[in-house]
Amino acid sequence: MSKVILVTGSNTGIGFDLVRVLAEKGHIVYLSARNEAAGKEAQANLKTDGLNVKFVRMDVTDHDSITSAKDVIEEAEGKLDVLVNNAAIGIEERPAADISMDALRRLFDTNFFGLVQVTTTFIPLLRASKEGVITNVSSELGSNGSQAQNHRGSPVYSASKAAVNSYTIALAHELKKDGIKANAVTPGYTATRLTKFQGTQTIREGTEVVLRWVLLDKDGPTGQFGIREELCQW
Ligand SMILES: NC(=O)c1ccc[n+]([C@@H]2O[C@H](COP(=O)([O-])OP(=O)(O)OC[C@H]3O[C@@H](n4cnc5c(N)ncnc54)[C@H](OP(=O)(O)O)[C@@H]3O)[C@@H](O)[C@H]2O)c1
Repeated sequence: MSKVILVTGSNTGIGFDLVRVLAEKGHIVYLSARNEAAGKEAQANLKTDGLNVKFVRMDVTDHDSITSAKDVIEEAEGKLDVLVNNAAIGIEERPAADISMDALRRLFDTNFFGLVQVTTTFIPLLRASKEGVITNVSSELGSNGSQAQNHRGSPVYSASKAAVNSYTIALAHELKKDGIKANAVTPGYTATRLTKFQGTQTIREGTEVVLRWVLLDKDGPTGQFGIREELCQW
């Protein structure tokens, strides 16, 4: 069955590859970007490969752009089956004892407040789906359990993804009654712009991990944190 799927921040990286794979599988996919030119270029690149995806401009830190995107999808589809909260940024990090408040606010604006704002705006459209799914792209660095055992730095990015994880758990519990699933997933250390292309996995390898948590069937999991083919510690 073809699903209506929105991937935030999908003009490049794992989000862009995910849009490609979902379109190849025949889904109605909304590629989304904060920069209209970059988004349309990404859409055109897929078109040259014979893939038709829809484009919607959305900056996850800009409430008006989120509501406009929601209006576009509501008008065209009347529902959203899957929301993939993929957009995120990383920053040059200072030690936890010397965090820059500006950097902390900037990163939380995109990685957490933005994700929450997108999610709450799209929940009415997810409720209109028979099998709504929210897939929050998190990170192993957001796992408090894993960081407690093996601390790997990046305190600001880690905190933003830990907040995403906490919010995902709350969503999963609250939205169960509506039949909406909410999970977090970490793609693993992937060679994208975010990692200055230092990641040890290819983009496609990262995409495949996320994909498993996007195309869930009716009896699929909720309230889980996926990593590769296993579950990650929250
Ligand atoms: N790569 C890894 O090793 C790794 C590991 C764990 C988790 N992750 C997570 O995987 C997801 C994808 O990351 P990636 O590695 O593919 O990074 P990426 O290549 O840097 O892509 C990030 C995407 O997010 C977009 N974005 C940033 N701020 C935005 C905003 N305010 N509004 C809308 N879009 C915005 C970027 O758009 P612009 O082009 O306009 O900047 C870009 O399209 C992120 O959630 C990241 O935290 C990645």
